[in-house]
Amino acid sequence: MSASAIHSAEDARRLARRRLPWMVFDYIDGSAGAETGAARNRAALDAITLQPRILRDVSQRSMATTLFGAPAERPFGIAPMGMCNLSAPGADLMLARLAAKYKIPHGVSTVASTPLEEILEVADGHAWFQIYFTGDGVGTFKLIERARHAGYETLVLTVDVPEVGRRPRELRHGFKMPFRIGPRQFIDFALHPRWSLTSLFHGKPQMANFEMPGYAFDRTESRARADWSTLEQMRAAWPGKLVVKGVLDPQDAAMLKDKGVDAIQVSSHGARQLESAPSPALMLPEIRKTVGPEFPLFFDSGLRSGEDVLKVMSQGADFAFFGRILQYAIAAGGEDGLHAMWNVLSEELSIAMAQSGLSVLPQHRSD
Ligand SMILES: Cc1cc2nc3c(=O)[nH]c(=O)nc-3n(C[C@H](O)[C@H](O)[C@H](O)COP(=O)(O)O)c2cc1C
Repeated sequence: MSASAIHSAEDARRLARRRLPWMVFDYIDGSAGAETGAARNRAALDAITLQPRILRDVSQRSMATTLFGAPAERPFGIAPMGMCNLSAPGADLMLARLAAKYKIPHGVSTVASTPLEEILEVADGHAWFQIYFTGDGVGTFKLIERARHAGYETLVLTVDVPEVGRRPRELRHGFKMPFRIGPRQFIDFALHPRWSLTSLFHGKPQMANFEMPGYAFDRTESRARADWSTLEQMRAAWPGKLVVKGVLDPQDAAMLKDKGVDAIQVSSHGARQLESAPSPALMLPEIRKTVGPEFPLFFDSGLRSGEDVLKVMSQGADFAFFGRILQYAIAAGGEDGLHAMWNVLSEELSIAMAQSGLSVLPQHRSD
């Protein structure tokens, strides 16, 4: 029933807000500081316009594209998010099945709540492993090796979290990973019985990738030691595609290209890190100019519709990623909710293409 009530990302958010314990909703929904960065991201996206074009026979439209030479049925995918199973039991695998169906990448977070091997299998190979460089990097390189051994072909290095951003909404609820249930959380859960009964019945969500000798992960451990030599090391250690996520500076983008990364993800981590960062949508055209027309550029942060995807593609992105709204959809209606959200996003994109006079996606690269 909830799935049929999803006609926009805001519908999914509203339903998720009702269903989820406050602690979980605020963990997913929250942004850094006073959340002005999130508002700025939205304002920049809202300010982009698409030019309507007429009488171009747009009856046959394709949303297909290619990613690193492989076909993808949509120009958007799933951003890596930690602890997705908080939105509902099995959320990671719902996302993996979606990725397999549409041949789009599922970003598998370092702190995913399902083992990385299982996600890759269920996603039928359409999964990219996201890594944080933490502490002295020993555990990081072990995890990279594990991902390589599992068969991952694309590694996403997230670079915009040298220290974890402060998100007051999350802090107020005492949100922690590993997940702990104290008296305050108990009351919150008791007031959201539908979530609590299903989630706690399945066992509380865990960070599933750390059952490795010599690698205990502390989410709050500093990631500040990474530097350009770390990137070089990672490039040398990873034979597959290397994407660097969390780039907002054209000079950084130029250096990354020089260092041999395969793609850059323009992102402000959904405004969850540096509150005062410029909006990715604002930086995208300049970064595109800097790296040239052929270099693969991806985008995330603040996208709320299929029309938003067309907007960022018109500004130079080759591919876009959705974060929060997919978790809202799962919280609202489980796997049906996720598919309903996906269909909404697809329809929004398709209609926006027609109204802009496009039968194929802009900047459709034939790599
Ligand atoms: C709950 C949550 C957890 C996240 N965890 C990670 C993570 O583990 N690694 C990462 O690179 N990005 C993480 N992100 C950031 C997303 O990959 C992405 O940049 C962001 O969600 C995009 O913005 P949007 O949510 O407005 O679409 C997380 C985002 C959320 C909302």
